[in-house]
Amino acid sequence: MKMMSSDLVENFLGEFATSLEHSLLEVLPDAHGMEEQVIEAMRYGLFAGGKRLRPFLVMMTSGLFSVEEENAIRVGAAIECLHTYSLIHDDLPAMDDDDIRRGKPSVHKKFDEATAVLAGDALLTLSFEILADVKTHSDPEIRCELIATLSRAVGALGMVGGQMIDLKSENQSLIESEINRMQQMKTGALIVFSCEAGAILAGVRGERRDVLKHYGRDIGLAFQIADDLLDTERSSLDIGKTAGKDVHAGKATLVALVGAKDARVKADRLIKQAIESLDIFDDKANILRSLATFVVSRNY
Ligand code: IPE
Ligand code: IPE
Ligand code: MG
Ligand code: MG
Ligand code: MG
Repeated sequence: MKMMSSDLVENFLGEFATSLEHSLLEVLPDAHGMEEQVIEAMRYGLFAGGKRLRPFLVMMTSGLFSVEEENAIRVGAAIECLHTYSLIHDDLPAMDDDDIRRGKPSVHKKFDEATAVLAGDALLTLSFEILADVKTHSDPEIRCELIATLSRAVGALGMVGGQMIDLKSENQSLIESEINRMQQMKTGALIVFSCEAGAILAGVRGERRDVLKHYGRDIGLAFQIADDLLDTERSSLDIGKTAGKDVHAGKATLVALVGAKDARVKADRLIKQAIESLDIFDDKANILRSLATFVVSRNY
């Protein structure tokens, strides 16, 4: 199997980000009237940059099954709205209290806390509005499946639950399996959905769908380990958010528990496993293979 260099993956991601942004512009409501400020804050949060990794996963997994690009990109846009909501709320003083996001002042800093709460709420609901639209898929059963699967991934037993555990775990000593579970929930679940979305759009079940979920589970966990490593090893300028804040807040991370070296070994092992699980796909999955490596080699 041919692997691509990290630079090439970054180029692909960068090019893709531009098309995703066109799609995001189409789905954002126009800002006018007395509600204007919340829409401005949604736009600010969405267009502050961001790797657009999750929508890219949707595009690449959809590509395995020849799903229409137009459909896949709308699912990607929905996921990016939802992900951006999670970041806006994650940065609030009541949560991680971070003043920088994507290299710019966080939404609550640029606007105010109430606006940040509302902008997050509106991005969350917008993501489901996008999925429910016939433009996302002509088959209502597929639209319902997208909505139901995403809801489960990001609700109390998924991302939101993981965020609760993350906050409750500050200055607590969690064992490795507890940290894993938290990270699978707060970060992994949305990444798994991003990988599964291509199969849902194509109506594919069985082994091929399961393989994409396994791939998503492995890269999702590795993604959060890499995020925790970046927090300790890189500058705020590199990562576009305040570096070193996890230690400061007493966050329970794998890096804090076993050290950077062992955490990296584990992340690399997960990536190897993710790549192996793609063996049932031919060269069509090469970008997904290279992307898995990028997840842990990235420096932003
Ligand atoms: C950051 O996600 C939050 C985590 C789940 C670790 P990303 O690193 O994908 O953030 P952006 O979208 O590129 O800003
Ligand atoms: C965030 O994890 C996970 C989310 C669901 C938003 P972090 O709190 O580590 O993310 P960053 O480092 O602020 O981006
Ligand atoms: Mg957090
Ligand atoms: Mg945070
Ligand atoms: Mg982090």
